[in-house]
Amino acid sequence: MPIAAPLRVLQVTDLHLKTQPGSRVWGVDVDAGLSAVLAHIREKHPVVDFILATGDLVGDDPEAYTRVRQALEPLDVPVHCLPGNHDFPAALGRRLHDGPVRWQRHVVAGDWQFVLLDSSFPGTPEGHLAPGELALLDTVLAMDPERHAMICLHHNPVPIDTPWLDTMTVGNGEALFAVLDRYPQVRAVVWGHIHAEFSGRRGAVHLLAAPATCVQFKPGTPEPQVDERPPGYRWFELHPDGRLETGVERVEPSRMPASARRAST
Ligand SMILES: [Fe+2]
Repeated sequence: MPIAAPLRVLQVTDLHLKTQPGSRVWGVDVDAGLSAVLAHIREKHPVVDFILATGDLVGDDPEAYTRVRQALEPLDVPVHCLPGNHDFPAALGRRLHDGPVRWQRHVVAGDWQFVLLDSSFPGTPEGHLAPGELALLDTVLAMDPERHAMICLHHNPVPIDTPWLDTMTVGNGEALFAVLDRYPQVRAVVWGHIHAEFSGRRGAVHLLAAPATCVQFKPGTPEPQVDERPPGYRWFELHPDGRLETGVERVEPSRMPASARRAST
């Protein structure tokens, strides 16, 4: 009997692009980091079904969504976006409402479904899921109990043992899990925001985060501390029976352009 091919999905996150090319976040050139990650993807993962872009697509610059589209469209696969705390959900929805790079709330692919939530809350870096987001989640999971589900959002819904970032989790994470606990088809919750790799479990549900495409933060520190590791992304192989394989890739340090390393000034 032929074995059905797994779904191949990548997660990129926290691009922090601005209108002006070459802008820096914590001293790191965001465009150089993204270019290095995209080159790595083209070389190592040339065949994927789609990409998830889990927020902070722009760095407090609503005009930069044009540059997000220009950077990601050449990958020639759908890129499903959602907003983070440095995004503008209304502008994101307007600028990325069609075409291959877009914000779509519910994506169905083979035996899997993906729900893309907005955990941003105006005026604060902290996360929150509004009643409408929780209702959307509840509705789509109730509609399709047979299809394995991956839930995507920007903020971490659980503490990650990095004290300064743990002040910015999804404030009502318990409400999220109250919904998820009613749907056994949920296989994973996936986020960005922490600019670091994370992997955990909550019962049978994988809890996963990916490194940013720009600056990295050291896990476990009480105050923000830049991690000199290069940028990266997460890959998934999602099997028809609900099994999930995943890992993180980082750009080789030798292939990082100098501008993508932290500037001293
Ligand atoms: Fe970010």
